[in-house]
Amino acid sequence: MVSNVLIIGSGGREHALAWKLAQSPRVNKLYVASGNGGTRNVAENIAIEATDIKGLVRFVEENTIDLTVVGPENSLALGMVDVFHSRGLRIFGPTRAAAKIEWSKAFAKRLMLAQNIPTAPFQIFRKYGKALDYIREHGAPIVVKASGLALGKGAYPCKTLGQAEEALAEIMLKRVYKEAGDEVIIEEFLDGQEISIHAFCDGKTSILMPTSQDHKPIGDGDKGKNTGGMGTIAPVPWVSSEMLQNIERQIVKPTLNALAEGGSPFIGCLYPGLKMTPTGPKVLEFNARLGDPETASYMRLLKTDLLDILDACVDGKLAELTIKWHSGFAMCVVLVSGGYPGKYKKQIPIFGITEAEKVPGVVVFHSGTMYGDQLRTFGGRVLEVTAIGKTLQEALNRADKAIHCIRFKNMQYRKDIGAKAIAMGF
Ligand code: AMP
Ligand code: GLY
Repeated sequence: MVSNVLIIGSGGREHALAWKLAQSPRVNKLYVASGNGGTRNVAENIAIEATDIKGLVRFVEENTIDLTVVGPENSLALGMVDVFHSRGLRIFGPTRAAAKIEWSKAFAKRLMLAQNIPTAPFQIFRKYGKALDYIREHGAPIVVKASGLALGKGAYPCKTLGQAEEALAEIMLKRVYKEAGDEVIIEEFLDGQEISIHAFCDGKTSILMPTSQDHKPIGDGDKGKNTGGMGTIAPVPWVSSEMLQNIERQIVKPTLNALAEGGSPFIGCLYPGLKMTPTGPKVLEFNARLGDPETASYMRLLKTDLLDILDACVDGKLAELTIKWHSGFAMCVVLVSGGYPGKYKKQIPIFGITEAEKVPGVVVFHSGTMYGDQLRTFGGRVLEVTAIGKTLQEALNRADKAIHCIRFKNMQYRKDIGAKAIAMGF
């Protein structure tokens, strides 16, 4: 049976999903709302914002959309999935209650504590004064986090007391994340490498994807401010299948069970971000959606028809499916606007993508672009250059070659994506 599919969102994740779905023989019409300068090459862009639930429902009903796929977390937090369910519409993503695991870090922390899921020891505060006292008492290093959604920028790992005080003031006094900063989490600083875990979930069954590793800070060597993500590798070569099974048993399953037992079974993609500490994996945060830029690497590795997977999740039939992945490695390097994650200029002309995609194994996904008279920048994260290779080094070399074909004024990127794994001998 063929399907009309709508993807909601306008970033690199959505371009990667659209690119993969466009290859499905079962997809009839493919739309992206609102999409970007890249999604228009593989789907039809619809000028409806990801938060305009009424507008999206109208579009879905008028255009006989069989499946809607939610990309961003804010649509989930607004309860888009609940509205679709109430109208009998099929949608991939968790309800507002299940997505609370992402939109309230305080909820996630309490759930982990109750279920004995490994995470950094923490305290939750609603009052600035009390939080400040605690930080001063505890000292640095320490991590200060806004509880609510903050575009991936609300967590401040602080090496000094001054940094922690400044972070708390930004969140609770300057209110840079508005009501997302009503509550703060203050937690122990954890050492170790970070990995991203992703699980397709149908409410009862879950299937893990390969591991991936994002690189959050803006600068090489993990220096500088946190961003939405500067690049990924997948799979992470030093994570053994035994380690992954342990993560599934200790973290993924108990979280999904707790949500289901609480009356909110999770359908969609659960994405815990972990620190691999000397005393084992610990959860930094949960996301209720696919990661960006992780999805760029994942879609390059996925062999199975993505529509089959999404349908199985929505229909509660994941247990009947085997998901296959290509061997080898995928990686993604994000090209960002000068100034990001702070202020940056938009509408800067972009050149060289066609040449970049001539490099074997390379596909360029668009993150923040728009197409008017020509392709221009339209966001902080602009392009996601992906490459596959038999080895991680081959993928890195290909991505590097492709990046050198692309230019836009003040383009920045990290030159060390994957370097940690290479340094470990992979
Ligand atoms: P989060 O949004 O909670 O995933 O945090 C964003 C980033 O901040 C993470 O990817 C880590 O790099 C860093 N981070 C968060 N929590 C901690 C922690 N407890 N210890 C060290 N780094 C952390
Ligand atoms: N990879 C970061 C995020 O999607 O939140």
